[in-house]
Amino acid sequence: METGSRVGKYALEEKLGEGGNGQVFAARDTVLGRRVALKLLHGQLITDATVAGRFRQEAQAMAQLSHPNVVVMHDFVADGPRWAIVMELVERGETLGTILKREGRMAPARAVRIAMGVASALGHAHARGIVHRDVKPANVLVLRDHGRETAKLTDFGIARVMHGERRTGAQLTLGTLWYIAPEQAQSSGVDARADIYSLGASLYEALTGRVVFPYDNVARVLAAHIGETAPAPSQLVAGIPPRLDALVMRCIAKNPDERPANGDALRALLEDCLAEIEGHGTGIPSTRAVSEMQASIDAARASAQGAGSIRPLPPPIAPAPLPGMGQTPRAPGGSGVTEDSGRLGLYIGIGTLVVVVGACLIGSLLFVVSLVLR
Ligand SMILES: Nc1ncnc2c1ncn2[C@@H]1O[C@H](COP(=O)(O)OP(=O)(O)OP(=O)(O)O)[C@@H](O)[C@H]1O
Ligand SMILES: [Mg+2]
Repeated sequence: METGSRVGKYALEEKLGEGGNGQVFAARDTVLGRRVALKLLHGQLITDATVAGRFRQEAQAMAQLSHPNVVVMHDFVADGPRWAIVMELVERGETLGTILKREGRMAPARAVRIAMGVASALGHAHARGIVHRDVKPANVLVLRDHGRETAKLTDFGIARVMHGERRTGAQLTLGTLWYIAPEQAQSSGVDARADIYSLGASLYEALTGRVVFPYDNVARVLAAHIGETAPAPSQLVAGIPPRLDALVMRCIAKNPDERPANGDALRALLEDCLAEIEGHGTGIPSTRAVSEMQASIDAARASAQGAGSIRPLPPPIAPAPLPGMGQTPRAPGGSGVTEDSGRLGLYIGIGTLVVVVGACLIGSLLFVVSLVLR
């Protein structure tokens, strides 16, 4: 399908990307004059007559969703053999998957903020009895506006429309399989908690730069979701706050009963994690305060040693690749090692400062006392 051609009243303007179900274009609604995103579904997926019925049903459910963290679905077009889903165009942004491919992993606060947006979107859908079924970084669009990021979840219900209620692992691409809940991997019925698992797995990747089970073999990934215990994010990357570490592990628990029950419950728990990371009311200094203290100690150390004598830090140590790793799952960036030693230096610096100031105070006190006594 070429840009310049039309699907119903939509004129295709430029191709934005391609996924497992079709190609996505920026298009213009020639009647209303607005720009939209149009997902043109692959021809082989729409030969099944039952898909048409499911689409109509699902489109009606999706049309109920209206939330700042959900990509709005505008229309569904069946133009002869060409079927398309028309949705809100997210212009200033990219998918979380693209960001992670480029940046590896992200700071906990940023990852938690994005996950909170997705959890809110899920909460809105779960309250209406809608389960997404395909939460993954490729379906999270991160919109950038004046330096602020807003997560928008897309492709609600598409998974069920295209593949029916129960899909087998063989029908899924690895890009979806890395995030799939054990009950989905077993082709059992799913509820809101399957979305929680998938969001937990996406957050795991955002924090560590590695998918939970980084194998490139479909059967192995499915078996791992069902029976293998993943290392906690903190075992892969230093500096993950314990509360967040535990929450991610709860989200990817094999037993759905152990996970937060729905998107709203998860959002509330993520909010607590963010408050802890930012140091609100916990007595813990914020990350910015710690890095500012670290910078001033580094500067003092540098000026004491003379600029020329500063030795560069050793290169970060990357963990050994796991067996069966393909090219897409990534190992963590490894900078946690230097973060750890930096933090140790900070504590030693603060400790030394406290001891020196204390000694000076006691010395002055003794001096004054001896003067008085004399
Ligand atoms: N609403 C949108 N606005 C702007 N760009 C979009 C929008 N939806 C999708 N895209 C772009 O199109 C690309 C392909 O999206 P698509 O949903 O087809 O891929 P996928 O999520 O990897 O696979 P699938 O959803 O089929 O399993 C995305 O990576 C994104 O860059
Ligand atoms: Mg998608």
